Amino acid sequence: MCGIVGFSGKEKAVDAIYTGLKHLEYRGYDSAGIAVNNNGSLRMLKASGNLENLKQKLDNDKLEGPCGIGHTRWATHGAPTDVNAHPHLSSDGKFAIVHNGIIENYLELKEELIKEGYKFLSETDTEVIVHLLEHYYKGDVKEAFLKTVSRLEGSYAIGVICSDNPGVAYAAKYFAPLIVGIGDGENLFASDVTAIIGHTKNVIYLEDGEFAEISKDKVTIYDFKGNEVKKEISKVEWDVESAEKGGYEHFMLKEIMEQPKAIKSAIEPRIKNGRIVLENEEELASACKNIERIVISACGSAFHAGYVGRYIIEELCKKSVKIEYASELRYSSPVINEKALTIVVSQSGETADTIAALKECKARGSKVLAIVNVVGSTIAKLADFVLYTYAGPEIAVATTKGYTTQVAVFDLFAVWLADKLKTIDEKIYNNLVDDIMQLPERIQRSIDLNPNVEKLARKYYKNDVVFFIGRNLDYAVGLEASLKLKEISYLHSEAYAAGELKHGTIALIEDGSLVVALACREDLYAKTMSNVKEVKARGANVVAVTDEDNKDIFTEASDVILIPKINSLFVAACEVVPLQLFSYYIAKERGCDIDKPKNLAKSVTVE
Ligand code: G6P
Repeated sequence: MCGIVGFSGKEKAVDAIYTGLKHLEYRGYDSAGIAVNNNGSLRMLKASGNLENLKQKLDNDKLEGPCGIGHTRWATHGAPTDVNAHPHLSSDGKFAIVHNGIIENYLELKEELIKEGYKFLSETDTEVIVHLLEHYYKGDVKEAFLKTVSRLEGSYAIGVICSDNPGVAYAAKYFAPLIVGIGDGENLFASDVTAIIGHTKNVIYLEDGEFAEISKDKVTIYDFKGNEVKKEISKVEWDVESAEKGGYEHFMLKEIMEQPKAIKSAIEPRIKNGRIVLENEEELASACKNIERIVISACGSAFHAGYVGRYIIEELCKKSVKIEYASELRYSSPVINEKALTIVVSQSGETADTIAALKECKARGSKVLAIVNVVGSTIAKLADFVLYTYAGPEIAVATTKGYTTQVAVFDLFAVWLADKLKTIDEKIYNNLVDDIMQLPERIQRSIDLNPNVEKLARKYYKNDVVFFIGRNLDYAVGLEASLKLKEISYLHSEAYAAGELKHGTIALIEDGSLVVALACREDLYAKTMSNVKEVKARGANVVAVTDEDNKDIFTEASDVILIPKINSLFVAACEVVPLQLFSYYIAKERGCDIDKPKNLAKSVTVE
């Protein structure tokens, strides 16, 4: 969702801001804008649509000045028009503001400001902030800013420039992502690291309720009471190439291919001398000791990773595991208390629904373990325990390596917990750890075994609807494979528990329907094959996904996707990879915008 960049340096701010916004495109947006402070005069350009539209305006009308702010907007309050695009200016032209998040009490504030005589030009909630700044400004921006934020309810990351202070940009964070980058003769702030990594690897992770003042050679952080806060400077582990396409046509393809490496990063640091060692593990083990149940909550693909985790934990740890959509958890009277461990899963660590679920579970007395990719994100900070997935930056909106690294962390956690709860013996433990260690190589083989997936996509891309069927973990993977296809190719697809198909949905199977049968769990293979026979009898074409030792499959299916043999418990990450490729090539055949599918945002920071 919305992206923010702020910059103060020696030269033209507009170039650094525009490049930063380009790197934030993946978050999803439908308009953009930039404002700069040129020796005390604010100038701004905005355009609906993609950044190219803004670029055209910038090419015709140069924005000069060493300090400024920029924004990519994902419309919530008001259509994605030029007027609603950020930045917004105060009536006296002194302040320009960009904002990510939602001001929940904006109507009340708007009414109050209208009575004071302020005129509103846009339909956004954001505009109240800039008028409040003008209202409270008596010559000290910090003071006006602090008074303004004290009036706001909701969530926000805000960037501001003021004509009276050329060379200074201001930012505040409250339950929306914002980091500060410390450069050499230049400083920045942005919604995430991808926007600043081209300038510096030194970052300050702001806490909620903090306010930053940046000029080209100084960064000062305050709390919302105005007290200066000393902050630690962290080093970003990855470099600028990680956030670029590196010769691939799309980020999604690059990220699919990066999965063996990403899984290695998630697994290797946590296996020492054949034992799984998790961060903060003594406290985590003690939090897990007397639990009666586990609740997993997440959204989208992270929910599907949780679905995989549920099956593995139940099988190995003999604990009841409930999985609940984060957007639904609060409305379902969940049985969550100090006897439950909650696991929330989120690539971005900023998903508003998941944050709300986390808070709900904590309030009910449950300890919360977060499986998160983005270091220093809100979810990572709010949880009692964090297991990072170390996937590196994921730019394509549709997640691939984000999902498989979440699954890998679930694999590790389930075996670790089973050992702590003594539900598996030493021999089984050792074998399972060996199996997990093979994952990076098996995932590479999963890619190598399937050069024909592109051809397969060309055969089927015109189908109107695709059904994915499977049982247990195969079903969980089917959910993710189906979502991937929908997200990027706009093709209608459904995932069904294979045995459920005959209870109604089989009526939709007709001549030429495409059914992808996931049959990688050896113990369930025969059962799934009987469902394959049912759909074939009704004229469906079947693409089967199974392991490479299975020779029988060629008589059952029209086409076959093979994956390497692996312990069936850990099959999910290997099984999903060729299906990610299948979706990718179908979307390509259909001419879709693969990295930025319509209407989707990478990180959904509104409920
Ligand atoms: C959005 C994205 C999905 C993603 C979901 C959860 O809906 O479009 O691709 O799976 O959010 O995101 P998270 O960052 O919490 O994993």
